[in-house]
Amino acid sequence: MTAGAAAEQPRRCVVLGGSGTVGRALVAELARAGAHVAFTYRQGREIAEELTRVFPGVTALEVDLADPRAAAEAADVLARRLGGVDAFAHCAVRASSIEPPAFDALEEVCLDGFAGVLAVNVTSAFAAARSLLPHFDRGGNVVLFGSVDGIKPVRSPVPYAVSKAALAGLAISLAKPFGQRGVRVNLIAPGVLEAGASRTLPDDLRREYLKHCGLRRLGKVEEVAALAAWLSLENTYVTGQTLVVDGGL
Ligand SMILES: NC(=O)c1ccc[n+]([C@@H]2O[C@H](COP(=O)([O-])OP(=O)(O)OC[C@H]3O[C@@H](n4cnc5c(N)ncnc54)[C@H](OP(=O)(O)O)[C@@H]3O)[C@@H](O)[C@H]2O)c1
Repeated sequence: MTAGAAAEQPRRCVVLGGSGTVGRALVAELARAGAHVAFTYRQGREIAEELTRVFPGVTALEVDLADPRAAAEAADVLARRLGGVDAFAHCAVRASSIEPPAFDALEEVCLDGFAGVLAVNVTSAFAAARSLLPHFDRGGNVVLFGSVDGIKPVRSPVPYAVSKAALAGLAISLAKPFGQRGVRVNLIAPGVLEAGASRTLPDDLRREYLKHCGLRRLGKVEEVAALAAWLSLENTYVTGQTLVVDGGL
C-alpha cells in the first residue's frame, strides 16, 4: 500500500462518553469529517441510537466506566471493531460525589462518592488509554478533558476539581511513553460551557464567572468539540499540554 493510499483511509476514533453533551458534539464532528467512530454510553441509550442512526459509520457500546477494568475492556472491544485506532477522546465525567448529582460543597462531599468520581474521571481514562496503545498502529492522538477547576483556584466541588487536576497530570505523564509510539496526549480544560457538566453550578457562580471572563459569555459546546476534533484528527506536534478554553478567565 502506498503512503497516499494509507493517508486516505478513514480515521478511526474511540470516544468514551460519546453520549454526553461535549461527547455527542465531538462524535458528530468526527463523523462529519469522515472518521469511523466507536463510542460508549451508559444511560444515554436514546442519544446513542440517534447518533448511530444519523451517522452510518458510527457504533456504540454500553459500559459503566466506574469499573476501570470494564473501561479497558470496552476500549479494546471498540478498537478491534474499528480495526485499529487513530484517536481516543475521553469525554465521560462524574461531576458530583453525591446522588442525585449536585454541586457538592465541602460539607456535602461523600467519601465513597469521592472515589467514584476519581474512578470514572481518571482511572477509566488511564485504563482505556493504556489498553488502546497497542491499537495505535500509525500514531495518533489522545484527548482528555480537564477543567479550569483543576488548574485555577475557583470555587468548585473538591472531588471534581481533584479529578480534573489529576487528568492534567495524566496528560503530562502519558506524553512520553505514548510519544514513543507517535501518539500525542493533550488535555482540554474548558471554563463554564452553556450546557453539560456545569448544569449543577449555582447561579451565583455562573454570574461570577461571567464577571471575570474576558469574553463575558459562557463557552459553546461546539467550540470545545471543534478543538477536540482538531486535536484528534489534525494535531501532529502538540503533546503533554493543557489547552485552556475559558474565554479569558
Ligand atoms: N460542560 C461544561 O461546562 C464543562 C466545563 C468544564 C469541563 N467540562 C468537561 O468536559 C467533559 C465533557 O463534559 P459534558 O459537559 O459533556 O458532561 P455531560 O454532558 O454530563 O456528559 C457526561 C458523560 O459521561 C458519561 N458517564 C457519566 N458517568 C458514567 C459512568 N459511570 N459510566 C459511563 N459513562 C458515564 C455520560 O454517559 P450517559 O449520559 O450515557 O450516562 C455522558 O456521556 C468532562 O470531562 C467535563 O468535566 C465540561
